[in-house]
Amino acid sequence: MLTNKNIIPISKYIGAMVLDVDLAKIDEKTFTVISDAFDKYNGLLFREQSLSPEQLVKFSRLFGDLDHAPQMENGQTAVAGFPEIYIVSNILNKNKEPIGSLGAGEAVWHTDMSYLPNPPDISMLYALEIPPVGGDTSLCSMVAAFNTLPDKIKTKVAHLSIKHDGTYNSGGLLRKGLREDNDPMTCAGQPHPIVCAHPRTNQPVLYLGRRRNAYIVGLEREESEGLLDSLWDYATLPENSYTHQWQVGDLLMWDNRATMHRRDPFDSSARRLMQRTQIKGQIAPSAFGA
Ligand code: OGA
Ligand code: MN
Repeated sequence: MLTNKNIIPISKYIGAMVLDVDLAKIDEKTFTVISDAFDKYNGLLFREQSLSPEQLVKFSRLFGDLDHAPQMENGQTAVAGFPEIYIVSNILNKNKEPIGSLGAGEAVWHTDMSYLPNPPDISMLYALEIPPVGGDTSLCSMVAAFNTLPDKIKTKVAHLSIKHDGTYNSGGLLRKGLREDNDPMTCAGQPHPIVCAHPRTNQPVLYLGRRRNAYIVGLEREESEGLLDSLWDYATLPENSYTHQWQVGDLLMWDNRATMHRRDPFDSSARRLMQRTQIKGQIAPSAFGA
């Protein structure tokens, strides 16, 4: 039986590894242990899994309804028959088109789909093919990030919102159906409070989304840029983060309400294939103390 002894923290502020569990066979008690650990560590790693798309979707659904995958860079929506699965891959098909998103370049720090009014609560990323080097994924704790902010900044941002850009994905590519716009003040985007209350733990969390084209609503452009730069410096301090080196069969899940993530680049001639699911946001991010 899975107990807290099977939960091993993997860094100071973020993430734990769950030992001896087969995600294809989860009973109610096991789910409770996993869900409690997830609330505590905001990121969980499961190794040596072997999941069909159906099993991945079934495990993901234990945490809530799933969002359909966003439209991928190739214009397709998802894996045939599984609209909930998003493919993250640099692999090319017969016509030399990518079968998934994000290519082989760096994916900069972000939370998933924060350009939506109700971004997904949780993302799960499952590794099917991994390059020999590179392509590591880092998570950072936005609970720790908030705690590291100097009081002066905490007070300053307490009632402010960021407009989260909807134009570009974390690989820097234009999203389908949007027009190029590099002006944070005019680009399409969705405002969310900078300091949110985590809906399950009630802790204050910093909510930044993506740096590119971000704008702090109501501030002059330069003040917004300066304040964003300092918030990002605190959030991405190495001590607030964990870097994951992938093995085939790893499933890493993170809480989009309490973390950001990024990916290192890798050799584009190597193959990397991941499947992602995203659990629907139950409520819109809401201001801490509102
Ligand atoms: C994602 C993502 C990074 C990676 O799937 O949301 O940002 O390591 N992936 O593939
Ligand atoms: Mn992502």
